[in-house]
Amino acid sequence: MSSFIVIVVLAAVAGPLAGSAILPPAHTNQPAAALPRETIRFADGWSFQPTGAPATGRGGAVSTTDPLATEIGRQVLAIGGTAVDAAIAVAFGLAVVNPEAGNLGGGGFMVLRQADGTTHALDFREKAPLAAKRDMYLDAEGNLTEDSLVGHRAAGVPGTVMGLGAAHARFGTLPWKTLVQPAIMLADGFKMHPRLANSLLHHQSALTRFDGTRETFLPGGTAPREGDFFAQPALAATLRRIQDQGVEGFYRGATAALIVAEMERGGGIITAEDLTGYEAIWREPLTFTYRGHTITSMPPSSSGGATMALMANILEGYDLAEMGWGSAEAIHHYAEAARRAYADRNQVLADPDFVAIPLATMIAKDYARSRGKNIDPRRATPSAQVGPGLAVVRPEPTETTHFSIVDRWGNAVAITTTLNSAYGSLVTVAGAGFLLNNEMDDFAAKPGHPNQFGLVEGEQNAITPGKRMLSSMSPTIVDNPAGELFFVSGTPGGSTIITTVLQTVLHVIDFGMRVDQAVLAPRVHHQHLPDQIFWEPRGLESDVITRLEAMGHHLVERPEFSGDVQAIMRRSDGTLTAFSDPRKGGTAVVLP
Ligand code: DON
Repeated sequence: MSSFIVIVVLAAVAGPLAGSAILPPAHTNQPAAALPRETIRFADGWSFQPTGAPATGRGGAVSTTDPLATEIGRQVLAIGGTAVDAAIAVAFGLAVVNPEAGNLGGGGFMVLRQADGTTHALDFREKAPLAAKRDMYLDAEGNLTEDSLVGHRAAGVPGTVMGLGAAHARFGTLPWKTLVQPAIMLADGFKMHPRLANSLLHHQSALTRFDGTRETFLPGGTAPREGDFFAQPALAATLRRIQDQGVEGFYRGATAALIVAEMERGGGIITAEDLTGYEAIWREPLTFTYRGHTITSMPPSSSGGATMALMANILEGYDLAEMGWGSAEAIHHYAEAARRAYADRNQVLADPDFVAIPLATMIAKDYARSRGKNIDPRRATPSAQVGPGLAVVRPEPTETTHFSIVDRWGNAVAITTTLNSAYGSLVTVAGAGFLLNNEMDDFAAKPGHPNQFGLVEGEQNAITPGKRMLSSMSPTIVDNPAGELFFVSGTPGGSTIITTVLQTVLHVIDFGMRVDQAVLAPRVHHQHLPDQIFWEPRGLESDVITRLEAMGHHLVERPEFSGDVQAIMRRSDGTLTAFSDPRKGGTAVVLP
């Protein structure tokens, strides 16, 4: 199905369209303006050099990992929808065109900044089923099994549809039916595009593991190729139930029955009671300041906002701009801040509805000062010598995708949503056509032992029925010192999400980068354990590596690029500019 049909359908439901009916070219971002004089130089061998400033406009901006999803967002903005309206339609669209991460069977977080500056945070993270047990992923010898990652038992109770419903109930302006419609039309069939064709081919062998998944995504036994007609009729039927009945079309009735039947068939533990009991939660956004800017991000059950706040508060004590972007000195201080912040994250952060966490202390400026006091400007502190700086508070008696949208009025939405690994648990709900997450692995299935991202977490994040597993997802919105919208950012990447998002924020605040430079710049990552600085392939110059090693850092070049940032910047003249990370091939547009 072409985007034209989506437009016709949107037009039929919502009235005439202001925008063009043509899909933007299937490559990252809009055409570039002339390249201004560069002040920042990336490593010579780096794959993603800036080619020029992206287009600007005042009519809104959308950045997602997929050209079709971006087009849906653009059209919703063009017919007068708000950023929240566009986000709902984009999220449903991603569940169809980007099933490795876009989802109905997963969860996520939304951070919203309204045009008047008020902010909101919505937690629609998956929850442990009521029948979950602390040691459910250990074998008889106490060793971890693969069950937290693959198959029916890996799935937490999905939160996405409830989250989108809650966002619409509170802030939606266009009809729900209109916003679900583009996804339905795409599920009825579309011409396979390179983004999905490449992903399905890459994951082909994993997708054969469960019958329902093989039949859905490998029709005829192989991955569909670019240009093939690709239809997902069971998913279309599920989306129609959601369109007609709202969130009840997922959490009750036929869809819920199909989920429960799938669980019974595959030995899973999600029940009808889990589904009817699921709630999305509006939380107090996590807010901190950095060099006069105000940063709004996600509080627990995400670790993103709090960990970024601690890192930023430590780094505020240093002049990163003076050290220079990409210098060994700047990377050293950044890694030392990350090492300390992740040690705390892994020890104390978890679902606040289940455990008490010292959140106020963790994000306080004076705690950061004492936490960063023992950073040696010339030497790495081994992680073995950096225990957590915070004590667990005992109560008085623990493949993702991001998109960013700003509308013409200045409302800004950042949503990160996930199934956890690419294609989640690899289980598709038969008859309902969507994949289930494998989010249970984000719990500390065996406290003190690493999860799939190498994160070594403690008792706080152990499995408890009904609890949300700790996340790193960090949808983030930055205001400038005048209190105006400045920057929207987010990314997938498991444990690297927090450092990736923070680096984009440092890039625009400390180093004055344009939005494209902030996204393109090679990234580094440290997470306390393992005690090493990860760096993207060919992203660092050899003299920088040599200097960091001489300081005592262990550097590890990643085999693959890291993250998939979708960023929007509001420039000082009030125009918007957006950039989609070329690492995965997304698309950003701005509306004139
Ligand atoms: O919530 C989290 O932190 C993880 N489930 C995110 C997983 C992820 O980013 C995978 N994609 N690269």
